[in-house]
Amino acid sequence: MFTYSTRDSLKSTLQKVRNQDKIIGFVPTMGALHEGHLSLVHRASEECDVVVVSIFVNPTQFNNQEDFLKYPNTLENDLKLLSQFPKVKVFVPSGDEVYPDEDSYEPIDLGQLDLVLEGKFRPGHFQGVVHVVRNLLQIVMPQRAYFGLKDFQQLAVIRRFSLMQDIETQIIPCETLRDVSGLALSSRNLRLSEKEKEDALIIHQTLLKIREWKLLHAPSMVKQMATDFFNQGVLKLEYLEIIDGNEFVNLHEEWTSNALCCIAAYCGEVRLIDNISC
Ligand code: PAJ
Repeated sequence: MFTYSTRDSLKSTLQKVRNQDKIIGFVPTMGALHEGHLSLVHRASEECDVVVVSIFVNPTQFNNQEDFLKYPNTLENDLKLLSQFPKVKVFVPSGDEVYPDEDSYEPIDLGQLDLVLEGKFRPGHFQGVVHVVRNLLQIVMPQRAYFGLKDFQQLAVIRRFSLMQDIETQIIPCETLRDVSGLALSSRNLRLSEKEKEDALIIHQTLLKIREWKLLHAPSMVKQMATDFFNQGVLKLEYLEIIDGNEFVNLHEEWTSNALCCIAAYCGEVRLIDNISC
């Protein structure tokens, strides 16, 4: 397995790959890898000839400095996990490599996406995500890039950016991986105690209830029922919204074919998000 820390070294290797008409896949990550990340790498390995996995904890997408400082770093283990994938090249850049002095990035208009859910509660977060993904895509120039549906709104933001900027990379959504208890895998779970991991199950339990209640009740009613159910647990709810997954507007009276329920909540100090289509 090869690891690269500079843009130039990675770019020159990838140019050789491109010259051979091979397909390059890309999986951007912030490290602290788990099976959820690896499911993206696995899929990319099946569909591409070479897979670049980047590991970079992007400071510009953290609106909370403490969250950034406490973000887990498990680089040695990450590299070990990735070594089982023969097609993988790992890009572990410094900040200067990702954000060069001559960076020409201009913030893009994210419209409604920046106003609701994560956009509302984490101001500036998505501009930071778009900026880093744009810079990484410029380095890797992949035909395909893989993103998890666990971060549904992030995926929508990246799709919007890619349409607005005529990006040629195909953006591929990948299913959320959960552990057997239903808890969505997340790097942040490393910061949860065993008790907190149990407490956090209320998130998935609530999402499953919503799917049941949907059969009998309107979205606004289900939102109320779900909020009451969630608040029986000990997590601190930041938002629970039932939205249309295309328009990102709240649903009230009618369900649409792309309805989605999104939850963000604090489990102790740790902020968790999850969603389910319903
Ligand atoms: P990170 O949280 O490390 O996630 C990297 C990718 O893995 C994202 O596309 C995310 O949606 C996906 N992922 C995380 N948990 C998952 C799970 N349980 N099942 C399936 N996929 C999962 O998302 C980011 O990093 C950053 O914002 C990034 C895009 C790298 C930009 O900095």
